[in-house]
Amino acid sequence: MSLPALPKIAFGGDYNPEQWPEEVWDEDYRLFEAAGIDTVTLGVFDWALIQPASEVYDFTLLDRIVERAAAQGRRICLATGTGAHPAWLARAHPEVTRTDFEGRRHRFGQRHNSCPNSPVFRRLSAELARRIARRYAGHPAIVAWHVGNEYGGACYCELCADAFRRWLRERYKSLAALNAAWYTTFWAHTFTAWEEIEPPSALTEHWRGPDHTAFQGITLDYRRFMSDAMLGNFLAEKAAIREADPETPVTTNFMGMYQPIDYHRWAAHLDFASWDNYPPDDSSQARMALTHDLMRGLKDGQPFWVMEQTPSITASRDVNPLKRPGVMRLWSWQAVAHGADAVLFFQLRASRGACEKYHGAVIGHGGRGDTRVFREVAELGAELEQVGDAVLGARTPARVALLFDWDSWWAVEMTDGLSRLVRYQEAVLGYYRALWDAGVDVDVVPVTKDLAGYEVVVAPLLHMVKGDVAERLQEVAARGGSVVTTFLSGRVDEDDNAFLMDVPGPLGALSGVRIDEWDARGPEIVNPVLLRSGQSGGSGEPAESELEVESRLFFEIVIPAGAETIGTYGADFYAGTPAVTRNAFGDGHGWYVAAGLDQRGVSWVMREVLAAHDIELRYPDVQDLETAVRVTPEGVRVLFLLNHRAEAVEVTADRTGTDLLTGLRVEAGDPVKIEARGVLLVREDA
Ligand code: GLA
Ligand code: ZN
Repeated sequence: MSLPALPKIAFGGDYNPEQWPEEVWDEDYRLFEAAGIDTVTLGVFDWALIQPASEVYDFTLLDRIVERAAAQGRRICLATGTGAHPAWLARAHPEVTRTDFEGRRHRFGQRHNSCPNSPVFRRLSAELARRIARRYAGHPAIVAWHVGNEYGGACYCELCADAFRRWLRERYKSLAALNAAWYTTFWAHTFTAWEEIEPPSALTEHWRGPDHTAFQGITLDYRRFMSDAMLGNFLAEKAAIREADPETPVTTNFMGMYQPIDYHRWAAHLDFASWDNYPPDDSSQARMALTHDLMRGLKDGQPFWVMEQTPSITASRDVNPLKRPGVMRLWSWQAVAHGADAVLFFQLRASRGACEKYHGAVIGHGGRGDTRVFREVAELGAELEQVGDAVLGARTPARVALLFDWDSWWAVEMTDGLSRLVRYQEAVLGYYRALWDAGVDVDVVPVTKDLAGYEVVVAPLLHMVKGDVAERLQEVAARGGSVVTTFLSGRVDEDDNAFLMDVPGPLGALSGVRIDEWDARGPEIVNPVLLRSGQSGGSGEPAESELEVESRLFFEIVIPAGAETIGTYGADFYAGTPAVTRNAFGDGHGWYVAAGLDQRGVSWVMREVLAAHDIELRYPDVQDLETAVRVTPEGVRVLFLLNHRAEAVEVTADRTGTDLLTGLRVEAGDPVKIEARGVLLVREDA
């Protein structure tokens, strides 16, 4: 089971016609037609509508909605409606509501509000999915199932505590193993009965919130457990769907770099990945690219769907800036460039009431088809129509991998004694941005991924070293590849206990360095780092380059154990000692970046690394001109050129092909102009 079979990139989004009278539906479909909208996601929050009372299921309205969509020739992504539970359910079974981190039992309200370990919730949500699937399975318009909505948050109720204890028994088998993993001799925590174990919350191990815990092992396990508990809800619904429908692909909408849920634990259970793209600001292009690549990496490079994005503004922020003209189109093509086979919006028509009434929509309250936003949506719809199946199912031919690991993210940000200012996402983004600027395709992959196909593997803040990842990184270097790791890597095992060896633990042999001491300072303290290449030659790098950059926040003091020095600290008592090193390992290298280099520094290091390989850098010196390649199942390469600037840019084409949007020829060696926020999709000649 993989992606929905489609003739073109899906275009449309969340559609909630149950919120308005049927006369309006005529107008909706007239406008969908005008905008080239072919796919609607239906029923995401319909539980109370379909099941108005415990014994009553009423499909009258959903039938009409589904029939209408089908009659209009739309494809349907049908939701199971379990993103919010009905009020009667919370009243009849108070156990379905959550207990928060502070221990407060919530009452009915909001959404995404169900206890994942409530048997009543589990049974009734699966039953709802079962009935919906039974009713609509086999309907020719339905191309995908959408389970729940944006799984997330956490619950700390008694049911969750019990389920946690069961999960722990399963994981550790014995209390002795659990006590060893959690290092409970510290602070008299030795557990002598499973019942003594409490969820880690503000009432137990935590102070100052979810990232301050006395026992990282307990808190890490609770996060893993919560991820698994919600996955259990998803799986129960998926199994219920499968009773009636053995085939249609099933997904749920993820949230990209969402910390509470380890999507790598989920990925295998989804038929295809999908996610909701709501970047924090309008200069997030590298962050979005990283997130798209992370989502593509969930299913081993298989294309994914953008399940939601706003056509214009969001509603949940304090300040909700408007996407500038051309930005929605540019970001939509960016998603496709990175592997999206669907471009969907939240929402197709605006709600009249409640907290999202001002959230951007393809159709606003006035129902007009002549607004700027509608026009831009319609223009994009026409372009997608024109591109047809040209990139559908196409893969990204990346030779560079970046490791992304939720466990490391969790651990590094919940550990005392390091620096609360070092943020995992920011560090990862710095390395990703360097590659993005350099114009190389990157796969963002879990640490369990087979690394045999990559020449460069970047592992920023690989704090936790699990399984055989250290050996597999060594193999990359041994066969001539380059591996880059950074400060705060190689510190702890899967249980968050320190390795009883020199830092960076199992990464030491590859890195050729030893770290005895580290220094964390506030953001105002800068240690200059002098970077110098070509000291020992060997990389084939022609000119020697030298650059002074800044480093901040975290400074490891490096004792070389075989590695050569590439960068040196300029200040403090460790001035003159290595800050960046490169170790010859087999036919390749293990790089170690011991300090929090600024972006210039990270980019310099990554360019040095790339220079040792024959990896094409596409327009590396043209700022904010993004490139990405997809290769179709037939082997046709499509090069995306995305100009994130507010002015046009002209570059020299390096391949010959045809722009799929304009039909114009692009000749290698000729100038090619990309308009402000413009996009080119060059299908390269064979
Ligand atoms: C999420 C949800 C939607 C809606 C949008 C608003 O992605 O899934 O229901 O609330 O956010 O941005
Ligand atoms: Zn609970």
